[in-house]
Amino acid sequence: MKSHVTDFLICPACLPKEMRLTLDVRESHGIEVISGVLKCPQCLSNYAIVGGIANLDPQQRDLTAETKSKYEESEVVSSYLWSHYADLFGDEEVTGAYPEWAEQIVTETGFALDAGCAVGRFTFELSRKFDFAVGIDSSRSFIAQARKLLLERRLDFNLKREGNLREKRAIKLPESWDETKVEYIVADAQALPFRSHCFSCVASLNLVDKLPKPLLHLKEMSRAAMRTGAQLLFSDPFSWSVAYTQEEDWLGGRDSGAYAGEGLDNVQAILEGEASEIDPPWTIENRGEVWWKIRNHRHHFELIRSCFIKAVR
Ligand SMILES: C[S@@+](CC[C@H](N)C(=O)[O-])C[C@H]1O[C@@H](n2cnc3c(N)ncnc32)[C@H](O)[C@@H]1O
Repeated sequence: MKSHVTDFLICPACLPKEMRLTLDVRESHGIEVISGVLKCPQCLSNYAIVGGIANLDPQQRDLTAETKSKYEESEVVSSYLWSHYADLFGDEEVTGAYPEWAEQIVTETGFALDAGCAVGRFTFELSRKFDFAVGIDSSRSFIAQARKLLLERRLDFNLKREGNLREKRAIKLPESWDETKVEYIVADAQALPFRSHCFSCVASLNLVDKLPKPLLHLKEMSRAAMRTGAQLLFSDPFSWSVAYTQEEDWLGGRDSGAYAGEGLDNVQAILEGEASEIDPPWTIENRGEVWWKIRNHRHHFELIRSCFIKAVR
């Protein structure tokens, strides 16, 4: 982790109190902290930095704990590397989803946040529009691959062809992409380890329907964004499922209850400040759809209509 990122970190376990963390470096290479601990002076939590990866997810303080998330599986990691970067190795079957989402964002100064960044493509897109971009994800495997690509500017991986057959692929970052403007850390999008109002832009792509507490995530994104002069990009296919979220916490997809009707309308109303959930409220600039593709193997793709909202305040 780049040491200067510490300036905007707080203890996620102490929220809503904002406790700054102190960095105890054990091993470093230039500004890169290879190993160390981020410490909270209030609750005495220690957040480890191991192999350059900072883990600020309070649920994952014990790094040896078994995790059952599908987002840690190597096949899923490979599938996301394809979705995020296949255009860079000339695969014509990929959609242009990430550049399309990036078109919604106006270039500005300041910091940008990509919540649920997976293997990090949209974080790179944000880094090309802002001074610095941070991607957070709860998957250690995703963050490890994103950081490897960041540090080495190249990543070799095996892509599933069929059954046990694999093909080698190499991702190389275009020269114009500046790795010094990007960082990835492990964190929970429902308890962001960042000071309030420090981001000029916050993005949440295809994440809200994968969270136990979607409303808490929207509130956290709003807390992290600047009170004025901020942009927000939200996108989701609204594949509500009890595998991720109890039905009473869905923000749409139900006939009755607090968020009856469609997710996109409900998220818009929440961002616009309905019931004072979000303060200050956002103004919706644009709504639209982006076709996004996931590749399971050579003959099996998922085509996903992700509905976006671009907002400012
Ligand atoms: C459907 S993927 C979307 C990834 C990426 N935003 C994109 O559009 O390609 C959902 C992502 O959310 C991450 N995720 C799930 N729960 C999370 C949480 N509580 N905090 C942060 N990330 C989470 C997963 O690891 C995964 O990378």
